[in-house]
Amino acid sequence: MSQELWSTVDAYISEVLVGPDEALEGALRRSSEAGLPAINVAPNQGKLLQRPAATSRAGGELLARVQGATRILEVGTLGGYSTIWLARALPPDGRLVTIELEPHHAEVARTNLAEAGLLDRVDVRVGPAAEILADLEGPFDFVFIDADKPSNPEYFQHAVRLSRPGTVVVVDNVVRGGSVADADSDDPAVVGTRRLNALMAAEPRVTATEVQTVGSKGHDGFALAVVVA
Ligand code: SAH
Ligand code: DHB
Ligand code: MG
Repeated sequence: MSQELWSTVDAYISEVLVGPDEALEGALRRSSEAGLPAINVAPNQGKLLQRPAATSRAGGELLARVQGATRILEVGTLGGYSTIWLARALPPDGRLVTIELEPHHAEVARTNLAEAGLLDRVDVRVGPAAEILADLEGPFDFVFIDADKPSNPEYFQHAVRLSRPGTVVVVDNVVRGGSVADADSDDPAVVGTRRLNALMAAEPRVTATEVQTVGSKGHDGFALAVVVA
């Protein structure tokens, strides 16, 4: 059980099942050169976002509902790495809105999306997600929440408001090394994630679960929620 082993296995999985990809590798290279932190999703998790039904065995019945998404919403763009995966799942007439607080991150993301040939489908909105979400109109078919963790409860509530029955909501980084299980934590990210979990459990419109992961990004996990009504 070690980070080195988790990274080796992630590299193996990505080599076998993801493969080389100039747009995605270029996006990471340009993001690194521009000084962005390497907190993008791992390649194999990116592919899970793109086509969950084709890549996951567990929970296939939930994940299959995302197929055919034509409107995608992302909260937390960074350099657009996960955005590229998500936008590739769209049909040519599909649209993706991605929200990023930092203008510099958004600028790097636009370059990366242009290089990937996807900027025509993606609207990168710059500003605090809470404000931008409040002005959006749905419905979206798929929502990926991956920004400031203390705000996850608020972002989840917007996601449900902007959904339709069948909408899939994925929230990244809900485990963070296991700290989420500490009910006494005063870490705002942990408190936010625990509130998110309570909201997901209490929301009658949603059925949700979470899966822990280990890999090149350490010990973490993601939430998967489906809007059922
Ligand atoms: N989804 C990306 C990683 C996002 S990292 C990927 O996997 O490739 C989280 C991003 O959220 C950072 O770029 C950060 O600047 C942004 N962020 C932080 N607080 C925010 C806020 N209040 N509103 C919008 N974006 C925010
Ligand atoms: C952080 C954010 C992420 O979205 C992630 O995947 C890993 C780390 C962070 O803010 O530290
Ligand atoms: Mg993340």
